[in-house]
Amino acid sequence: MGGMSQGVLRKYREYLPVGDGTPMITLGEGDTPLVRSNKLSQELGCSELYFKLEGCNPTGSFKDRGMVLAVAKALEEGSQGIICASTGNTSASAAAYGARVEIPATVLVPQGDVAIGKLAQARAHGARILAINGNFDQALSLARAVAEMYPLTLVNSVNPNRLEGQKTAAFEIVDELGDAPDLLCIPVGNAGNITSYWRGFVEYHAAERAKTLPKMMGFQAQGAAPIVLGQPVPDPTTVASAIRIGNPASWEGATKARDESGGIIDTVSDDEILDAYRLMAAGEGIFCEPASAAGVAGLIKLHRNGLELEGQSVVCIITGSGLKDPEFAVKFIKSEVREVSPNLEAVEAALLMSVSGGRKG
Ligand code: F0G
Repeated sequence: MGGMSQGVLRKYREYLPVGDGTPMITLGEGDTPLVRSNKLSQELGCSELYFKLEGCNPTGSFKDRGMVLAVAKALEEGSQGIICASTGNTSASAAAYGARVEIPATVLVPQGDVAIGKLAQARAHGARILAINGNFDQALSLARAVAEMYPLTLVNSVNPNRLEGQKTAAFEIVDELGDAPDLLCIPVGNAGNITSYWRGFVEYHAAERAKTLPKMMGFQAQGAAPIVLGQPVPDPTTVASAIRIGNPASWEGATKARDESGGIIDTVSDDEILDAYRLMAAGEGIFCEPASAAGVAGLIKLHRNGLELEGQSVVCIITGSGLKDPEFAVKFIKSEVREVSPNLEAVEAALLMSVSGGRKG
């Protein structure tokens, strides 16, 4: 096994519902980088700020941690296929793991609302794609109904194995930092991830792998903030398509995580999401999804509203890769691409306008 990535099923076997009959499948999920902040930490006066780069998972988002377990259990139970609704990442992950173990994947996505990279993944992996003329919440109720009627395993986070697998990210943070951070900032959509992280921290604490528990700081987009409002949002809107969700499946898990940890679930505006998205890319060198920027935007907002971060350790979960949504980057990041003739004079002329300091020697 030397050097080969073992995947989360093997690595955290003792904490997962994995038995002798469970196929130990992997695409190399987990073991994602925990990277220290350079720029934002200075701006916030927070010397211990880290980003957990979940976009480094095999399909480019955190979903792989739970999907690998959900698909392994589906195989173990002799399932004939998997089905999910998705704003894109879950469907990309289901399609990949389905292809890996050769069981068909069916994905229901809100038509016209899924980032191009995510849709390309589902297509490339050979999933059956149903573009629902409605939103994610409608797609999820349809997926649930179909899974009741047919011998298909639902692999949305209402499948308990998804939540079990995703908690391994909390384990990794504690394994790396030696304890839980003071604050964990995380975007909230269908609310499975915040539920999983809290479970992971609580289990590790009970197993005496961590001395402390973090405050869970969840952030929903302003136009898609049912948990903050205390009621479902029938027509959720936000630039962050991954968290455009009006009636989260793990609503209770999220409020439990918030309340038991002494944390919060708050909103961030689309402008705040965009600012954080740009700052992550240009200031930290980390290209994340708009939805992932919501957690960072939330931390910035808390600091602006007076939360003292000095002496606090903070981890922001960067849930997915910016490469998922290149159209978004092109649309929302102003940067000039200058056309230049293929000769040195033209390149020099173009450089003179942007390079300070002049020529060498
Ligand atoms: N960040 C990204 C990049 C996501 O894709 C999602 C959810 C979230 C955050 C929110 O996580 O739902 O556990 O609260 N994406 C789901 C999907 C809904 O279908 O891919 P959550």
